[in-house]
Amino acid sequence: MRPKITLIMVTTADGVIANDEHADSFTWNSAEDKKHFRELSRQIGTVILGSTTFRAAGGASLKDRLNIVLTSQPDRFDKHENAIFMKGTPQDVIAVLMERGITHAALIGGANVNRQFLEAGLVDELVLTLEPRLFGSGLRISDGSSFDIPMQLTAMEQLNDRGTLLLTYTLHTTNDTQQS
Ligand SMILES: NC(=O)c1ccc[n+]([C@@H]2O[C@H](COP(=O)([O-])OP(=O)(O)OC[C@H]3O[C@@H](n4cnc5c(N)ncnc54)[C@H](OP(=O)(O)O)[C@@H]3O)[C@@H](O)[C@H]2O)c1
Repeated sequence: MRPKITLIMVTTADGVIANDEHADSFTWNSAEDKKHFRELSRQIGTVILGSTTFRAAGGASLKDRLNIVLTSQPDRFDKHENAIFMKGTPQDVIAVLMERGITHAALIGGANVNRQFLEAGLVDELVLTLEPRLFGSGLRISDGSSFDIPMQLTAMEQLNDRGTLLLTYTLHTTNDTQQS
């Protein structure tokens, strides 16, 4: 049984995750979303991210979580006690998780890495924060690919008076052998 993968994202109401790919996505989201992200990713314990997201967030690993950072140049990064820098496919990441006995990991972007996991049918759940904001253009949850993945809404919560919504979906992918 492979580990469960939960994609955690925050988007504007028009579906944008960043209006500049080098921008830190955590500058425009609500305090309530920041708290939710911190709590959920710590509860899951392992985060998977791309090197652009790692750099955009300041180049430091997220503390109290194992960080798995995808990069074609792992040697270019300083050593972090709680981070693994690796190249490879989503299946290679799953193998690393399984070797370590990890049964649940959070995929936290960006669009490039999200696409690879979605295309591989390796995302089981989407926890999406929808901020009441419009950017008009920018990066989407997944870049440069088209697919049609049906989802089921399983939970919905309003996080603040401005109307930030937290939506949880189960994905119906072809690869449904994850461990819950
Ligand atoms: N709103 C949100 O919830 C949210 C969440 C996360 C990120 N973001 C935003 O999204 C933006 C970044 O997204 P992005 O799509 O541009 O980049 P990304 O997915 O964070 O990182 C892409 C980079 O990771 C490395 N990489 C990806 N897959 C790999 C693989 N299989 N093997 C080895 N290396 C691999 C490559 O860089 P190298 O090989 O050159 O190292 C690639 O250019 C930032 O602005 C960030 O703030 C928003």
